[in-house]
Amino acid sequence: MDTQDYRRALGSFPTGVTIVTAYDTDHDPWGLTANSFTSVSLEPPMVSVCIAKSGRVFPTLSMSGHFAVNILSAAQQDLALHFASNVENRFTDTDWAAGGTAPLLPGASAHLECIIHDRVDAGDHEILLGRVMKYAHTPVPPLVYCRGNFFAAPLPEVMR
Ligand SMILES: Cc1cc2nc3c(=O)[nH]c(=O)nc-3n(C[C@H](O)[C@H](O)[C@H](O)COP(=O)(O)O)c2cc1C
Repeated sequence: MDTQDYRRALGSFPTGVTIVTAYDTDHDPWGLTANSFTSVSLEPPMVSVCIAKSGRVFPTLSMSGHFAVNILSAAQQDLALHFASNVENRFTDTDWAAGGTAPLLPGASAHLECIIHDRVDAGDHEILLGRVMKYAHTPVPPLVYCRGNFFAAPLPEVMR
């Protein structure tokens, strides 16, 4: 399979954009940009994210027992790029708040704080299944990602 071409096919599926965060054993914050977020179950409330095993954040996210999903707002494109970049510490010079179990990013459209319910091996990624313990949301419009580009979808009034 031509990997580049395959990625282009997947890129036709528009998604929201999240930053998934967790604390390491020293209580230092870690996080990465992820668009693999999905709502899995309403009763009980469960969500999933798929995390590349090759990434620097993977050991912390997989082992911490908790993670938070920050659903980015339309104004947070720079943050999405920052948390996908190679900077040493993504939280230096980033405004963040200590959630109960994971770091939270102010200005997000919504936050979900999760306890890890299960981890599923999935090729070069691991699927983290999180039980949602706490959440918050705002009317701030979300950031959208499609075909390698970010954009802010203008929301019709009924969706605000
Ligand atoms: C829009 C977007 C969505 C992404 N989604 C994911 C994802 O769902 N899972 C993942 O592991 N990496 C995803 N990435 C890539 C990571 O953010 C990127 O590889 C990051 O540098 C990994 O950081 P780390 O090596 O510090 O773990 C995404 C990147 C972008 C720009």
